[in-house]
Amino acid sequence: MHPKFFPISCIFIAIVTLFHLPVSLAQGNELYQNCSQLFECGNIQGIGYPFWGANRSQACGHPSFFLSCTGDAPVLTIETRPYRVLAIDNTTYTLKVVREEFWNNSCPQYLNNATLDETHFSYASGMGDLLLSYGCTTSTSLTGITIPGEFTCLANGTSGTFGIYGSPNVTASMANIPTGVTCNTSVIMRVDSTEAQALPISGGNVTQVLNSGVGLLWQANNSNCEQCVTSGGRCGTNSSNPGSFICYCSDRDYAFACGSSSGSGSGTCPF
Ligand SMILES: *[C@@H]1O[C@H](CO)[C@@H](O)[C@H](O)[C@H]1NC(C)=O
Ligand SMILES: *[C@@H]1O[C@H](CO)[C@@H](O)[C@H](O)[C@H]1NC(C)=O
Ligand SMILES: *[C@@H]1O[C@H](CO)[C@@H](O)[C@H](O)[C@H]1NC(C)=O
Ligand SMILES: *[C@@H]1O[C@H](CO)[C@@H](O)[C@H](O)[C@H]1NC(C)=O
Ligand SMILES: *[C@@H]1O[C@H](CO)[C@@H](O)[C@H](O)[C@H]1NC(C)=O
Ligand SMILES: *[C@@H]1O[C@H](CO)[C@@H](O)[C@H](O)[C@H]1NC(C)=O
Ligand SMILES: *[C@@H]1O[C@H](CO)[C@@H](O)[C@H](O)[C@H]1NC(C)=O
Ligand SMILES: *[C@@H]1O[C@H](CO)[C@@H](O)[C@H](O)[C@H]1NC(C)=O
Ligand SMILES: *[C@@H]1O[C@H](CO)[C@@H](O)[C@H](O)[C@H]1NC(C)=O
Ligand SMILES: *[C@@H]1O[C@H](CO)[C@@H](O)[C@H](O)[C@H]1NC(C)=O
Ligand SMILES: *[C@@H]1O[C@H](CO)[C@@H](O)[C@H](O)[C@H]1NC(C)=O
Repeated sequence: MHPKFFPISCIFIAIVTLFHLPVSLAQGNELYQNCSQLFECGNIQGIGYPFWGANRSQACGHPSFFLSCTGDAPVLTIETRPYRVLAIDNTTYTLKVVREEFWNNSCPQYLNNATLDETHFSYASGMGDLLLSYGCTTSTSLTGITIPGEFTCLANGTSGTFGIYGSPNVTASMANIPTGVTCNTSVIMRVDSTEAQALPISGGNVTQVLNSGVGLLWQANNSNCEQCVTSGGRCGTNSSNPGSFICYCSDRDYAFACGSSSGSGSGTCPF
């Protein structure tokens, strides 16, 4: 085989390929393999894009979806607040989470409201707001009277204080706090409405409501990833172009799906 039998462009392609392909091929393979590993932590198994962390390199996920494995469950950080992940479903792009500080605990040491990163997350339907008021005291006229929604919470060890939960979807100004009761601070949290509405029936166990979690929907180039996975690829983020989607395939990286690159070859090159 002599070069003169092939178009001059083929020689250029051969040279370019010789110098560049081994590099991009190695990178593509490496991330394809790395991103083929799924995240596992406790009962949560088989988690892929947009999540990354542990054995999954950052390039295998979307920056807003870092998971760490603390103890027996994955923890996702949204807008600086940690959330314990109870379930992940990548067919519906939904998560079930509980704010880590409130996991099995209606009385955490530090009280913070959380805000959602609305670019990438939204609450599932059927959720309502629960108002938790803390550092509450009663006037002497209420001594011995059971206050609706009261739960034990000795804020930072201060004796004589307690917490009160309000009905779902109430705002701080509409808090159901009875006259004669004053509370120091409050937190508003989205919870499952059905669980919250059952509070008075279930004996007012607010911890049980918190443990049931809240549903979130995620948005992280969902349809791009579906396309990539269907073509046999692994989804990720192009590390040389932060925020942009990439599809790692066994041969190399593509913008959207394996084999979909608009090749410049006219079919005349013998390789
Ligand atoms: C992560 O990789 C280590 C070694 O590379 C391996 O022992 C471990 O089982 C892997 N974990 C998961 C969750 O794949
Ligand atoms: C969903 O997760 C499974 C592994 O549990 C994976 O095989 C599949 O490719 C994922 N689908 C998408 C669209 O990410
Ligand atoms: C994948 O990447 C992560 C993070 O860079 C690394 O810890 C892990 O060992 C890699 N796994 C493989 C199999 O290369
Ligand atoms: C919640 O905490 C109680 C003790 O306060 C413990 O007995 C129970 O096992 C915990 N539940 C979970 C699901 O961690
Ligand atoms: C609270 O509002 C949300 C939407 O904002 C709604 O889905 C939910 O049903 C409401 N819950 C109650 C108890 O009204
Ligand atoms: C309310 O907060 C103030 C100052 O932050 C504190 O001195 C007081 O003890 C608190 N009251 C209760 C009932 O916790
Ligand atoms: C405990 O004290 C810290 C400040 O030291 C305060 O930020 C936090 O809200 C307090 N916790 C409760 C439950 O009041
Ligand atoms: C949480 O938000 C409510 C309503 O905006 C506010 O009244 C309350 O003070 C906030 N709590 C904390 C701990 O910042
Ligand atoms: C409330 O529910 C939690 C979680 O299910 C449980 O650990 C706790 O014992 C319950 N508390 C009461 C007073 O029933
Ligand atoms: C992927 O999502 C990001 C936002 O997270 C957006 O800026 C970007 O345009 C999306 N890329 C594609 C190819 O849809
Ligand atoms: C990744 O981003 C770089 C820089 O924008 C771009 O040149 C390259 O084509 C992208 N990779 C893929 C496979 O789209």
